[in-house]
Amino acid sequence: MIPPEVIETARLRLCSAWESDAEEVFAAYAQDRDATRYLAWRPTGKIEDTRQHLRLTVRQRSDGTALQWVIRRKEDGRLMGTIGGRVDGHKVELGYVLAKAFWNSGYMTEAVRAVVEWALREADIFRVWAVCDVDNPASARVMEKAGMKREGLLRRWSIHPTIGPEPRDCYCYAITK
Ligand SMILES: CC(C)(COP(=O)(O)OP(=O)(O)OC[C@H]1O[C@@H](n2cnc3c(N)ncnc32)[C@H](O)[C@@H]1OP(=O)(O)O)[C@@H](O)C(=O)NCCC(=O)NCCS
Repeated sequence: MIPPEVIETARLRLCSAWESDAEEVFAAYAQDRDATRYLAWRPTGKIEDTRQHLRLTVRQRSDGTALQWVIRRKEDGRLMGTIGGRVDGHKVELGYVLAKAFWNSGYMTEAVRAVVEWALREADIFRVWAVCDVDNPASARVMEKAGMKREGLLRRWSIHPTIGPEPRDCYCYAITK
């Protein structure tokens, strides 16, 4: 599977993420406790951590275990967030985050739909799935609008360190072919 360098939607351009995106990612959301509240990592204040994460995803993209795009607004090229996935055989697990300035305008639904459409067109991918914290209804709604179905509740599934050290309950959503 070779992920496309660029996926275009009506308003967005999803571009393969590179270490050179670090400054924009750091400024857009990596330091924001609200944007990272339900994620598996928390802001550290160090741009080197953002660089290191991007270097890792570039390596994982080249060995076929991960996908990662930065989300740019077509009209001005501004970096709005990221979307990516972990590849495990015939399954892709999505993850995504958008800077707060862009919430509630349908952007992430547009991005998730595009990645799901691309992934399910790939011959080897049969399932695209993701989890979201039970207290993150905006993310659940994005997945529903993108055609994913709630499959269940995964109790004590994931640690979201901005909230606390204990594993949190998450909903699991998926779409299959
Ligand atoms: C979750 C997130 C990606 C949503 O992106 P977005 O571009 O704002 O999503 P959309 O605008 O496409 O859709 C959001 C939907 O959630 C709804 N929503 C937003 N806040 C809500 C809330 N507190 N309760 C219920 N619904 C809510 C919106 O009304 C909208 O639904 P609608 O179109 O039916 O009205 C964005 O808020 C984000 O990046 N959050 C921080 C990172 C994160 O949580 N990532 C997901 C980890 S699983």
